[in-house]
Parts: sequence; C-alpha cells; structure tokens
Amino acid sequence: MKKLFLTITAIIIFSNSVYAQQDYIALPSIDKTGGMPLMQALSERKTIRSFSKEPIQEDVLAEILWAGAGKNREENKLTIPTALNRQNVFIYVLSDKGSFLYDAQNHSLIKITDADLRPVKDAPITLAYAADKNKGDKLYAAMHVGSAYQNVGLYAASKHMANVVRGSFDRGSIERGLKLPKNIEVLITQAIGYPIQ
Ligand SMILES: Cc1cc2nc3c(=O)[nH]c(=O)nc-3n(C[C@H](O)[C@H](O)[C@H](O)COP(=O)(O)O)c2cc1C
Repeated sequence: MKKLFLTITAIIIFSNSVYAQQDYIALPSIDKTGGMPLMQALSERKTIRSFSKEPIQEDVLAEILWAGAGKNREENKLTIPTALNRQNVFIYVLSDKGSFLYDAQNHSLIKITDADLRPVKDAPITLAYAADKNKGDKLYAAMHVGSAYQNVGLYAASKHMANVVRGSFDRGSIERGLKLPKNIEVLITQAIGYPIQ
C-alpha cells in the first residue's frame, strides 16, 4: 500500500478526529462499468464462512469499499441512501497490515493503527461498520449499515468471493483497538475473501 500514499497537502478533519496527511492512502480508481448482471449477482448472493489464504488486492479492496459506501455522484452522495443524507456510516478495514478507515469523499484509506484487529483471522479482511451514536436515530444507523453490507455481499457474489456478516464479535476490543471516540460505535462486521476451491 505504501506506493499509493497520497500527497494531500492539508490536514483533513474527518469524523470528529484529525488525521495527518501521511496517514492517507489513495485507493485505485474503480471501473464502474460492466461486471456481473445484477439479477445474477442477486441469485448468487450467499454467506460463505470458509476462506482460502488468497489475499485481496488493492483494486478489489477499492471496489469493495466503493460498493459499500463510496461516492457515486458528483454531488458527493453515496452508493447507499442515508437518512437526511447524513452519511453517518463509517467502514473500517481490519487486516494483517493494520486497520484503516475508508474516506469515501477522497476514495482513500486513513491508517488508524498497525494492529491487526480482525476478530477472526480466517479471512484476509474484516470490515467493521460503525455509526455515530450522537447523529441521528440508531435504527436508521443500522439500516445504513445493512445497506452497505448488502452492497458488499452483492459485490462479493459478482466476483465469486466469500463473505459473512457477523453480529457476534468482541465489539469492545475492536473499538478500543481503533481508539474510537465514545460517540462512534461498531454495529456489525463482515469478513470477506475468497472461497476455498
Ligand atoms: C445482522 C446479521 C448478523 C449475523 N451474524 C452472524 C454471526 O454472528 N455469525 C455467523 O456465522 N453468521 C452471521 N450472520 C449470517 C447469517 O447466519 C446468514 O445470513 C443466514 O444464515 C442466511 O444465510 P445466507 O446469507 O447464505 O442467505 C448474520 C447475518 C446478519 C444479517
């Protein structure tokens, strides 16, 4: 990922925290055309709980995150709807290379820690979906997160990847590891990788 370090000149304020420019990692731009037809992806969407050791490459990770809650229009709106367009859903990428926050507006990752915070180390990546408890209704936050993991699940189906949404995980350990402010809560996780052939 080092080669993708972005030279953002200003310190950027995000999610009530301040991240230094050196923590930003630009993601590859994504191909928004083609792919598996939607009806086929819906037919193939399913939970797969066993993962091969195959890593997820950066271009695929970029597409996973963009599908989850990426910016899909010039007016800064997302691939998922959010109540009052609050966009108060945060996707953290937990991997053996550290843990990162997805910044949809800059299509970048922000490195939070070198720690591997995956609750289960079977899949190469676990996404941790979080919301701001102080912004909007908690039910709405859960809906936003559900939209995001469904988008990722459909993307996974379209690429013949494996994924499982997991509501059972050690929330405290992820929240502590990510040094989340008290208002940000991890609602659910989704492990993603490739199936065992
Ligand atoms: C909100 C939510 C929480 C879930 N939590 C877990 C979990 O903790 N562990 C697990 O193995 N699967 C979990 N699942 C996956 C479900 O067990 C799975 O979606 C269900 O069995 C239906 O299978 P399918 O996704 O293949 O249609 C969860 C799914 C959802 C939507």
